[in-house]
Amino acid sequence: MKRIAVLTSGGDSPGMNAAIRAVVRKANFHGVEVMGIYHGYEGFIEGRMELLDLGSVGGIIQRGGTKLFSSRCPKFKEEQYQLQGIEKMREAGVEGLVVIGGDGSYRGAMELTKKGFPSVGVPGTIDNDIPGTEYTIGFDTALNTVIESIDKIRDTATSHENSFVVEVMGRDAGDIALWAGLAAGAESILIPEEEFDIDDIVARIEHGIARGKKHSIIIVAEGVMAGNELAKILNEKANITTRVSVLGHIQRGGSPSARDRVLAGQFGAKAVEVLLEGRSGRAVGIKNHQLYDYDLEEAFSNKHKADLSLYTLSKELSI
Ligand code: ADP
Ligand code: F6P
Repeated sequence: MKRIAVLTSGGDSPGMNAAIRAVVRKANFHGVEVMGIYHGYEGFIEGRMELLDLGSVGGIIQRGGTKLFSSRCPKFKEEQYQLQGIEKMREAGVEGLVVIGGDGSYRGAMELTKKGFPSVGVPGTIDNDIPGTEYTIGFDTALNTVIESIDKIRDTATSHENSFVVEVMGRDAGDIALWAGLAAGAESILIPEEEFDIDDIVARIEHGIARGKKHSIIIVAEGVMAGNELAKILNEKANITTRVSVLGHIQRGGSPSARDRVLAGQFGAKAVEVLLEGRSGRAVGIKNHQLYDYDLEEAFSNKHKADLSLYTLSKELSI
């Protein structure tokens, strides 16, 4: 291969820029040019791209968001648009693609590979919900953002002896709620992967008050229910006034943590290696501290499993 391309797609995540940089620098190290495609698959369809030289990715390793912009592009699910994009790439001499995104973006990459356009996936999502890899780029930064917010909420909750419901992102996956809940010492955590018992949550709040706790923090992943809805139920059942904080999109922004920058470097470089070895339809991931690549299809035909031992542990530690 003499020329490849890179795009970012779906919900952005801190560290995507560091991954773009790694793709460009690693490919250039091997004498291969990289085109940066703008606006995810939307730009792919139209061939909206430009050459990324070494200097073009300087000064972005520390920046959140994505220099290449992102998009959700429903029409890319249609074959005619996939073929149109492949045609545009071939016209520009592009022979392979690195897709940085979540499982939806991986489906697109698989379609391209099946149609003869070699593509490799790099996991970039704050949700940490891609099967086959223990971590995705952006998860660690999002967690730190959530924890910092909860620490601040805890200060005011303690001063006023309040209960707080904190709603975090995670439409289908509870990793942010689970890990942040454990790291911030939340009293209860609600995730899409586990049934919850409202009476147990109420009992925990009441038990906490009885033993002199000055506050209680309940974390709910948005996929379970809205924070406001949960607070309403708790207020009725526990006879307390629960405040609500919806953290929203601040979780997707910010300078990537050291962990996410390193991961982005490793994943971006590995994806280039895979392509240059003539392999495609692969995803890069990390398992037991080992970087590896695996079948892209595995990443979206399986369902991500939350580490439920953390859920049990959080219950034991928050009594
Ligand atoms: P994420 O990649 O973060 O999971 P989405 O699920 O929104 O985000 O997917 C991002 C984009 O990937 C979609 O807007 C679409 O362009 C593409 N995509 C998703 N599913 C498919 C599919 N089945 N076939 C082809 N492209 C897809
Ligand atoms: O990036 C993943 C995610 O943050 C989900 O947790 C959330 O449900 C979704 O994206 C929201 O994204 P948007 O506001 O772009 O639709």
